[in-house]
Amino acid sequence: MEEQLNVMLEVKNLAVSFYNKSGEIQAVRDVSYQLKKGEVLGIVGESGSGKSVSSHCILRLIPDNGKVRSGEILFEGKDILKMSQKEMQNLRGNRISMIFQDPMTALDPLFTVEYQLNESLKKHTGMGSAERKKRMVELLELVGINQPERRLKQYPHELSGGMRQRVMIAIALSCSPNLLIADEPTTALDVTIQAQIIDLLKELKEKLGMAIIFITHDLGVVSDICDRIIVMYAGKIVEEGTSREIFYQHRHPYTQGLLESVPDIGKDQNERLKPIKGNPPDMSSVKPGCAFAPRCREAMRICVREEPPLMELSEGHCAACWGLLGAVEK
Ligand SMILES: Nc1ncnc2c1ncn2[C@@H]1O[C@H](COP(=O)(O)OP(=O)(O)OP(=O)(O)O)[C@@H](O)[C@H]1O
Ligand SMILES: [Mg+2]
Repeated sequence: MEEQLNVMLEVKNLAVSFYNKSGEIQAVRDVSYQLKKGEVLGIVGESGSGKSVSSHCILRLIPDNGKVRSGEILFEGKDILKMSQKEMQNLRGNRISMIFQDPMTALDPLFTVEYQLNESLKKHTGMGSAERKKRMVELLELVGINQPERRLKQYPHELSGGMRQRVMIAIALSCSPNLLIADEPTTALDVTIQAQIIDLLKELKEKLGMAIIFITHDLGVVSDICDRIIVMYAGKIVEEGTSREIFYQHRHPYTQGLLESVPDIGKDQNERLKPIKGNPPDMSSVKPGCAFAPRCREAMRICVREEPPLMELSEGHCAACWGLLGAVEK
C-alpha cells in the first residue's frame, strides 16, 4: 500500500501510432511503467525506438498525424489523456516541465534571458515584478550560472551551448515542477559539458526532490543519475530494472548490445566500440515475433514466430526475451 502511495506517474499499456500516406507507423506499442516520487528514470534505446513519443504523451505533445490508440497515463491517480485543456495547462505549468535536446530551438533568439524567464514566471506563478526579479537571479544561481544579473541581459546567441541548456533548465524549474522530463538534454553538448549538466540535474534532484525522466540513446550517460532504467526497442520495453541490474545483470541481448556500444572510461581508449549490427525495424510493417530477432546473435526459431512477453526475473527486473526460458526449441 505504501509503495502504491509513492507512485507519482503510471503509464499503462500506452500505444501510439502515426498515420501518413503509406499507412500506420506503430511508434509506441503497449508501454507500461511506474515512476515514484523523487525517482530518476532513464529511458534508453536507439533512434526511433519511441523514447520521445512515449514521453511527450505525458504532456500530450503529439503531432497532428499521431494518435494515442490505447492506454492510460495516470499522474497522481488522474488520467492525463482525459484531462480538460484547463487541467492540462495547470499540469504543464505547475507540475510537469520538459527540457529538450537543443536549447537553441527552445529558446527564442529575439529575446533576452530575462524576458524569457520572466514570461515563464508570469505565466506559472502569481509573483509580483520585484519577487520575479529576485527569483530569476535565484534560478540562475541554482543552475550554476555565475554573474546572473549580467546573464539576464544577454541573448541566447551570446551564451555557450552548456550555458543555454542551463538557462533552459532554469526556465523548466521556474514553476517548481514535481516531474521534469529531459529529452536528450545533453546530446548537443560536448562530453565535458554533458557531464556538468548531468551533475547539475543530480544536484537539483537532491535539492528539490523532483522526479526526473531522462531520455537518451546513450546508456553511458545515464549510469550515475538514474535509479531505474527502461530499455526500449521498436516501440516496446524490452528490459527494465534498477541501474545496477541493467548494467551488471542485464538479460536482454539488446541491452547487452547497447552496453557494448558505450565508450567505457576504464577500457583501452583504442579499443573499438561495437555498434549493434543491422538497423531497427520499419515500424510501418510490424512483423510477428521479437522485433530484435533479425539482429540478435542468440535468436532461436521461436523468436521470429512469436513475440516474447515481458517476464519478471526478480522484483522490478523484467526482460522480454525467449532466451530467458532456457530450454525452448532451437
Ligand atoms: N510526426 C511523426 N510522423 C510520423 N512518424 C513519426 C512522427 N514522429 C515520430 N515518428 C516515428 O515514431 C517512431 C518513434 O519516434 P521517437 O521520436 O519516439 O524516437 P526516439 O526513440 O525518440 O528517437 P531519437 O533517439 O532519434 O530521438 C519513429 O519510427 C519515428 O519515425
Ligand atoms: Mg527522441
